[in-house]
Amino acid sequence: MDKVKFTAMKDGDREDYEFLTEHEIEYASKTAERLLGAMVELDESLSGYQVTRLGHSLQSATRAWRDGADVDWVVSALLHDIGDIYAPYNHDEYAAAILRPFVREQCAWVVEKHGDFQKLYYAHHVGGNPHAREAYKGHAYFDDCAIFCERWDQNSFDPDYPHEGIEFFRGMVEEVFARKAYDPAVIRAGERVSLTDPTTAEGRNA
Ligand SMILES: [Fe+2]
Ligand SMILES: [Fe+2]
Repeated sequence: MDKVKFTAMKDGDREDYEFLTEHEIEYASKTAERLLGAMVELDESLSGYQVTRLGHSLQSATRAWRDGADVDWVVSALLHDIGDIYAPYNHDEYAAAILRPFVREQCAWVVEKHGDFQKLYYAHHVGGNPHAREAYKGHAYFDDCAIFCERWDQNSFDPDYPHEGIEFFRGMVEEVFARKAYDPAVIRAGERVSLTDPTTAEGRNA
C-alpha cells in the first residue's frame, strides 16, 4: 500500500488510517531537516536591515548559546522569526506554533509574545504602542520575554557580530524536534529556566 483507498475521509477504513499514521510518523521525523532548510530561505526575506533574517536568527541563537542558555532557549532563539516567510503579520505566533510541542512552555510563550515585547524598541517611531507588552504584566514569563528581546533579539542586527553558522545548531534542532510531542517532561508547565547561566557561558566562551 502506498496510498489510501479513499477520496473522502469518511470512507477511509482502519487499514487506510493505520497506513497514514505510520506515514505521518516518518514524515514528522524529518521536521528538523525541513526547518533547517526553511531557515536558509530566511536569507532572502525582508530586506532593508543590515543583516538578513537568517543572519539575525543566527546572531540571536549565538548570543543565547554564549549566554549559557539551554537547548530549548537556543533553538527557540534560532527559530523565533521563522514565521516571517509565511506570516509577516503574526510571525511570532507562527514560530511559537512550530516550537510549542517540543520546547518548554516558557520558551514557546516568549516566542509567541516577542513581537509585542519588541515594540518597546521601535513602535514610537511608527505610530505604534511601545508599551504593548504591558498587556502581559504580571505573567509568569513576562521578565523572560523582556530579557529575550533585550539580550538576543533587538541587538541582533549587527553585520559585524561574529555568529555561528547554521550547521553549528543542526544537532540542537534535531534533538529538540526528535522529542515526543507535548511530553509533559519537556513542556514543564509553569517552570522557569534562566536565559543566562554564567558558569556554562564561561565554558562556551573559553
Ligand atoms: Fe520577530
Ligand atoms: Fe527577531
